[in-house]
Amino acid sequence: MNRVAEILGIKYPFIQGAMSWLTNAKFVAAVSNAGGLGILGPNAGQNTVTPDPVETAERMRCEIKKVQALTDKPFAVTLIGGNGGPTSEFTLKTLDVVIEEHVPAVLVNSVGALTGGDYGIETSLLAPLKEHNIKIIVRAWQPSIADAQAVQKQGGDMYVATGFDEGGTLPGAVLGSFSILPMIADSVDIPVLLAGGVSDVRTVNAAFALGAEGVYVGTRLIPTVENPAAEVTKKLIVDSTSEDLKLFRVAPAYYRSLPTTLRNQLVKNDQEKSGQEVLDANAKLMGGTSGMRIGMLEGDLEHGYVSVGTGISMIREIQSVEDVVNEMMADYKD
Ligand SMILES: Cc1cc2nc3c(=O)[nH]c(=O)nc-3n(C[C@H](O)[C@H](O)[C@H](O)COP(=O)(O)O)c2cc1C
Repeated sequence: MNRVAEILGIKYPFIQGAMSWLTNAKFVAAVSNAGGLGILGPNAGQNTVTPDPVETAERMRCEIKKVQALTDKPFAVTLIGGNGGPTSEFTLKTLDVVIEEHVPAVLVNSVGALTGGDYGIETSLLAPLKEHNIKIIVRAWQPSIADAQAVQKQGGDMYVATGFDEGGTLPGAVLGSFSILPMIADSVDIPVLLAGGVSDVRTVNAAFALGAEGVYVGTRLIPTVENPAAEVTKKLIVDSTSEDLKLFRVAPAYYRSLPTTLRNQLVKNDQEKSGQEVLDANAKLMGGTSGMRIGMLEGDLEHGYVSVGTGISMIREIQSVEDVVNEMMADYKD
């Protein structure tokens, strides 16, 4: 049996990528009901942030309960690792909720190679997760061989090899999906999932041919009926190709976006400034991930940005999550 499907107790080794602002209970349950694994990402089901870690975790509890009402299938919650320092109160409070609500799996964002040596799963997360037998999927902001091997040694269940083709915060190593996947898959024995540009049945098949035991899909799932993104944003993604995307620098490395007024300013800064100056100027303009909320959840294509992967050329229509999963996994044989 496919190891990813077996470990997670799901039909297809198809994992929905955690996406800030762009997940909620309805969407996550739809992925799990379609036979994949849905993941509640940062700010799941929200349109505001709260500075209170307890309220943040309670908001997540509410979303978890909604998922449980919509599906009896496994799903996961995102826990953001320490990013080179201790894990934040926000994550630790969310971890308590994950344990209390018997969530079967988590996606841990490890820092990866960013700090040049502080690899793997942050220790204050690792022990409680193992103690409660919660399955651990690890996706590093900066994936590397050393990080994947550290995760394996710590008992992580699977590792996501993220290529530069992905949407969201881009890895600074600038390795495309076709290069990073075989490199990571050859370096560990735990199952490896491919993230970045997996948007149709051909790219799913290619991932398996290159050594993946599962796929980790973000962008393709945004233009779906159940995704909370604004209709205008879903339509923009469907009507665009990879040629419409522009890259710009922002800490820790790069972002890319479809055309919006804000995107054009970010690209202009990149062209006119250099070094730390461009990183500071663009961080200020983007306002953390609020530009993502404005452009993608609220559909304001003037003040926000639309962050997607380079696989958008393969997306031709807004479909149900179930149709997308079935089409992409059409050639999968257990
Ligand atoms: C709009 C958007 C927001 C994202 N936000 C997050 C996030 O908050 N945490 C995270 O680990 N990954 C995030 N990602 C990355 C995805 O989890 C996943 O790695 C990526 O979407 C896979 O590549 P693809 O978009 O080409 O399918 C985001 C991706 C997108 C498109």
